[in-house]
Amino acid sequence: MNAAIRAVVRIASFRGIETYGVSRGYQGLIEGEIAPLTARSVSNTIQRGGTILKTSRSKEFEKPEGLEKARANLERFEINGLVAIGGNGTLRGAIDLGAIWSGKIIGLPGTIDNDLAGTDYTIGYDTAVATALWGIDRIRDTAESHERVFLIEVMGRHAGFIAVDVAVAGGAEEVLVPEVEGAFKGLAERLEAGIKRGKKSSIVIVAEGDETGGVDVLARKLRDKAGIDTRIVVLGHLQRGGSPTAQDRILATELGAFAVEQLIEGRSGVMAGKVKGELVLTPFKEAVEAKKPLNTYLLGHLAALAS
Ligand code: F6P
Repeated sequence: MNAAIRAVVRIASFRGIETYGVSRGYQGLIEGEIAPLTARSVSNTIQRGGTILKTSRSKEFEKPEGLEKARANLERFEINGLVAIGGNGTLRGAIDLGAIWSGKIIGLPGTIDNDLAGTDYTIGYDTAVATALWGIDRIRDTAESHERVFLIEVMGRHAGFIAVDVAVAGGAEEVLVPEVEGAFKGLAERLEAGIKRGKKSSIVIVAEGDETGGVDVLARKLRDKAGIDTRIVVLGHLQRGGSPTAQDRILATELGAFAVEQLIEGRSGVMAGKVKGELVLTPFKEAVEAKKPLNTYLLGHLAALAS
């Protein structure tokens, strides 16, 4: 996100446009936490994790009074263009704000979940995958030496993108994601069959939003139903921190620059994204509502790859 903020500020200021940063997302917009950002304010930020502007999940922004306060602050600061960086909630908020505010809004896909249509990858996703993989590789070492079955929970409340990618890249035996129902059925038998084929350890990747209800429930079920002893690891918020990968910094910079150019052109109500190497714009509603498919090709080959 910092790389995106930096690009927006630098490209805008290079074009003679004044920029302000809103702290703590929509909650900060309601509370008037708005301050000038200059090319120098974003120095030395491209390599930093998190967001220099901070963020929040604002319940108040979902109510008309909250939206009204936000609109009043935008007018008070004479802001006429907004770049909203975030995931599903951010874009939904941008739709509501766009209905009552006359300024222009461009969205940037900033979420580790990768669950927005209109872009192949979201800003932060590649870093989250790399971080989760870093952890999984280490767990694999101990799984192998102690000959154990590990259940590793990765983030993704409603989406299995991180889970599928780390399962493939981490050489996992199984992956359970919210998009695929019934994967638990036969899991114990498949794990046992693997052991009979000579597997000394197994790794099962579980997306946090999977239907089984998380790794604790899954561990209990495997023990009670099949007597399989497992160890669990929840990677959790670890995946949302750390210095961004080169790919994330480049994507964020490209989309940040594109967002400013599109605001200058007068576009609004759309998310900037990159699809098959092309910079594209997608209406907010479509970006949040259209279902982005998982990589079913890789998912379909996982069993063979883990054989
Ligand atoms: O939406 C991004 C995300 O990291 C999800 O993967 C996760 O379920 C959620 O945020 C966690 O949110 P919080 O930090 O508010 O618990």
